[in-house]
Amino acid sequence: MTKQKCAVLISGNGSNLQALIDACAKPDFPVQIVRVISNNEQAFGLQRAHKAGIETLIIDHRGFHSRDDFDLALHDALIECGAQIVCLAGFMRILTADFVGKWPAKMLNIHPSLLPSYRGLHTHRRALEDGVKFAGCTVHFVVPEMDAGPIVIQAAVPILPNDTEQTLTQRVLEQEHHIYPQALR
Ligand code: GRF
Repeated sequence: MTKQKCAVLISGNGSNLQALIDACAKPDFPVQIVRVISNNEQAFGLQRAHKAGIETLIIDHRGFHSRDDFDLALHDALIECGAQIVCLAGFMRILTADFVGKWPAKMLNIHPSLLPSYRGLHTHRRALEDGVKFAGCTVHFVVPEMDAGPIVIQAAVPILPNDTEQTLTQRVLEQEHHIYPQALR
């Protein structure tokens, strides 16, 4: 089987990266991760990549004068490793429309809400404050508008009476780890 080459962009813990690494380790999974790129050298996800023998690259956004310059470096790094698909997995940078336009229907993101509800940050806190009964997560294609774009897959998670931001985050994360590999496949 010829596997599609994928690069994963992270900024932090990388538990979704781990779910993708585990899925890609299966012989029949049609994708291989060729590089993990982080804008943050402290990201724990880099250690996960090392452990899996995946090449890593740090591109620190603070070393660039503009978003355009950072995104150009990112694009070059993706081309260099032969990536055909890009997965954003807790990558905490807003990408320019120019950059996004170079990966049409080739870039996925995972977001911890049932989009189009709760775009942006602190999704679970806001859901709890609003008293909604279901939280969840979404994998979607990336378009220039943040946390928008065609939805590939979602998982709904019931909000329980005693949920805190922490407990809800944990239960939604478990679902994220199920749906991201499915969406990538
Ligand atoms: C996840 O909740 C993901 O949905 C959001 O950022 C978080 C990343 O977590 N985009 P991790 O680094 O994959 O553990």
